[in-house]
Amino acid sequence: MTQQVVAASVFPGFFPTPPPGRCKCPRANRFTASSPTHKNGLLRVLHSSVHPLGLAFAPIPPYPHPPPAVDLLITNPEDEPFLRDEILRSSPTTRIETVAPGSLATQGLLDAPSPPLLAFARQILPHATPATAPSINAWVERLAATLAPLRTHPHPWRLHVWPRYGQGRAGQQRAQWIVKGLHEWLGRHHRALRRNLDPATSPFPPSHTLLQLTLTAPDLGFLSLTPAPHPHHLQPLLSTFPAGEVPVAVDKSAPSRAFAKLVEAEARLGLAIAPGQSCVDLGASPGSWSYVALRRGATVTAVDRSPLRADLMAHPRLRFHPGDAFSYHPTQPVDWLICDVIAAPRRSIQLLHHWLSNRWCRRFIVTVKFKGSADYPELDPVKHWLPTLSSAFLLTRLCANRNEVCIAGVAAHLPDTAS
Ligand SMILES: C[S@@+](CC[C@H](N)C(=O)[O-])C[C@H]1O[C@@H](n2cnc3c(N)ncnc32)[C@H](O)[C@@H]1O
Repeated sequence: MTQQVVAASVFPGFFPTPPPGRCKCPRANRFTASSPTHKNGLLRVLHSSVHPLGLAFAPIPPYPHPPPAVDLLITNPEDEPFLRDEILRSSPTTRIETVAPGSLATQGLLDAPSPPLLAFARQILPHATPATAPSINAWVERLAATLAPLRTHPHPWRLHVWPRYGQGRAGQQRAQWIVKGLHEWLGRHHRALRRNLDPATSPFPPSHTLLQLTLTAPDLGFLSLTPAPHPHHLQPLLSTFPAGEVPVAVDKSAPSRAFAKLVEAEARLGLAIAPGQSCVDLGASPGSWSYVALRRGATVTAVDRSPLRADLMAHPRLRFHPGDAFSYHPTQPVDWLICDVIAAPRRSIQLLHHWLSNRWCRRFIVTVKFKGSADYPELDPVKHWLPTLSSAFLLTRLCANRNEVCIAGVAAHLPDTAS
């Protein structure tokens, strides 16, 4: 039965088969069996690895032969087909398997010298291995065991633990208990390691390692240790926020909810609009992006055919430029281009390329809006020129985006005037 199940997976041998002789229970020969009616191969296989008496495999780590690692890509469950298409457009022979809703396992994709930009991947777990643990303490022990390389070579590290199952708070609470349990374990056993745990969500410095655990069920998950300096190098794909989910506080004073896109893009980029900086806001009405920039202390040139909310129009640091966003250009380089204009994807992409080629902005946050999904491949050429025209960049569907993608970054080759 187990043979059949493993063969059903696109990654033969991926499933962590229990080592012989570990379980003395008379039902041991049954606990890797899976229903012959299973549909979503690997996910069910992983579930079936739990002992029927709830004991799982004790003691916890390690398997004599660790299961092979996969690169796990996390997306919105509804974006899964688009992420699959995007992966296959960049790497047609890549094997892909769904291991949990919105969690795709691939192999080899992130090992390339420059891994593909994937707009629909919200988070990645490089070289992730499946893991089982029957209790919070067992998860803590698994995480502690995974941290072994940091005990011998102490350096800063970050920790992301998050659930990928259920609808309610139970998964979140379990993740929080695991994090708390690990803190306590480190306090008892390895204070230096606890001191080196960095809770920040700023961009990964080259010195930092990242440990991630995503729970696909209370007792199942994937562990990924990304050693320094890889989190830094993988920054366009690897979010500094657990699960790639950026918390943005509600701001009821903003003209619309669009403010959340700009705030999330800043957080994801690790770079915020600063006092005294200059911003051009294209497609600015009713004014939520300008509102955020003004609150940050910037001066704003807002371009739109329609005026912004009255209080913003009267703001001393806002200049309204009525007219076409695509024909506007600044008289001198500005600190930020922010653009949320409604236009065909190709036009917004060309606009950004034009601004970067002409060195009109030092930093940029641009929304590309879609109707349906047929135009998603228009993002592919961006993946080639964006790294040449910018030094730090993102191409991602933000949590606050609807049928949109955000391109953000720091322009290459322009002196930075920001304080
Ligand atoms: C989604 S709204 C922008 C919302 C804005 N970012 C905010 O936070 O309030 C898109 C805006 O693009 C403007 N727009 C569309 N085409 C334009 C064009 N060619 N030139 C200038 N503005 C344009 C529309 O008038 C609309 O106000």
